[in-house]
Amino acid sequence: MAGGGFVDTSGGKEYPGNVTLYVIFASIVAAFGGLIFGYDIGISGGVTSMDSFLLSFFPSVYHKAKVDTSTNQYCKFDSELLTLFTSSLYLAALVASVCASTVTRVAGRKWSMFGGGIVFLFGAALNGAATNVAMLIIGRILLGVGVGFANQSVPVYLSEMAPARLRGMLNILFQLMITIGILVANLINYGTAKIAGGWGWRVSLGLAGVPAIMITVGSLFLPDTPNSLIERGHPDEAKAMLKKIRGTEEVEAEYEDLVAASEEAKQIKHPWRNILEKRNRAPLTMSICIPFFQQLTGINVIMFYAPVLFKTIGFGDDASLMSAVITGLVNVVATFVSILAVDRAGRRFLFLQGGIQMLACQIVVGALIASVFGTTGEGDMTKVKAVFIVISICAYVAAFAWSWGPLGWLVPSEVFPLEIRSAGQSMNVSVNMLFTFFIGQLFLKMLCAMKFGLFYFFGAWVIVMTIFVYMFVPETKGVPIEEMVLVWKNHWFWGKYISDADIHVGKKPSA
Ligand code: BGC
Repeated sequence: MAGGGFVDTSGGKEYPGNVTLYVIFASIVAAFGGLIFGYDIGISGGVTSMDSFLLSFFPSVYHKAKVDTSTNQYCKFDSELLTLFTSSLYLAALVASVCASTVTRVAGRKWSMFGGGIVFLFGAALNGAATNVAMLIIGRILLGVGVGFANQSVPVYLSEMAPARLRGMLNILFQLMITIGILVANLINYGTAKIAGGWGWRVSLGLAGVPAIMITVGSLFLPDTPNSLIERGHPDEAKAMLKKIRGTEEVEAEYEDLVAASEEAKQIKHPWRNILEKRNRAPLTMSICIPFFQQLTGINVIMFYAPVLFKTIGFGDDASLMSAVITGLVNVVATFVSILAVDRAGRRFLFLQGGIQMLACQIVVGALIASVFGTTGEGDMTKVKAVFIVISICAYVAAFAWSWGPLGWLVPSEVFPLEIRSAGQSMNVSVNMLFTFFIGQLFLKMLCAMKFGLFYFFGAWVIVMTIFVYMFVPETKGVPIEEMVLVWKNHWFWGKYISDADIHVGKKPSA
């Protein structure tokens, strides 16, 4: 029953061919798209904790935090304008990812990446040169458009270039770049915060142009995916590309399947209506619940606000930024665990283990903060407790980095049938951005209102999502993407949504 459908996939297809250097190189370049997303996540928290930045743009926040030192620790940084600065990007990304799905389909994946990179570059320039809040927020909206285009096109690109058996690993390259972007941003903040003239924040924001140039220039050298070439009416080029990326002349079987899948996809006039059909209930649920739960782990409280959070618990400026660097490093390193384990231990194991570890850490952090600041928000943090908090937060970040982080992008991208995969991917990105926006916008308010209970709030959601995975998310490790319907058919709950007619000829349920 629960434990969710184990499917015998021994009848699954394996196409001939190797993992070529060409594919690996193209995947790394495309994954640069994750770099701009990550840089952005990491940069705003540090910048919003720099005094010179606050004084220039959010003086009321600065004065509340600095001058009125007697106020409740939990509410020091509560400012709607400040959170709007951080989270405006995600609303822009949400809207942009819907538009990007059309560009990605009609013009090809690489042009979405290119366009995203260019717009992001303008956003970085505007932010670095900002002289008022409007310039800052417009700049961030442009960054958001860039992120929306990249997050829509890069995962699709990676999935299409990857040979089936490496799908998980190559997909997680995207998440790896996200974590590297976050870490680099944290390091840059650590350095620029020390710039005496108080213009360090300009360097932090302006340097976002570097990953933007990397993806913009890199995308020009990227080949189109065979799928996209077929879709856009270039079958010969598609076949040649397939030979090149698989490193073999024997691509007929895969090519035929691509053509057939593309024909099937062309018959779907309204993917958004199709996605609502009964047989798609399971993947649709995944594309909504997984990004929603990913954000409700509370990870972005750490990613956006680590320096602010560490200041709240009594660290000095330098120690706060340093702690953010440490969590950023843990985030990158732990992602490698996922890269190695995802196709061996499987998705479910990582989800369940990660959930339990995150919950344990949230309970510890909540209890430590409660023991110092109680409900009044007054108190002094001891060194020992502060160190324990940082360690627990690191263990929490590690658990996220090998579970909900990468799997939040991987699983929704691999469970849809081809004809609605792109619509499903849009849904995933949109839900993710929407709840990233909510967390970004509400976190400081929630900390002020819920105090240490905020950690229990996210902990409660981690319990819900872990039960959800246990009951409703089947193992998808090693299952060829086009056979996913069998996983649902064999599942104790989702099985009833799949009729025999929904299973294409030639595929028989194994149980
Ligand atoms: C999430 C981001 C998060 C990041 C942390 C990504 O998978 O979508 O919201 O900040 O992981 O590494």
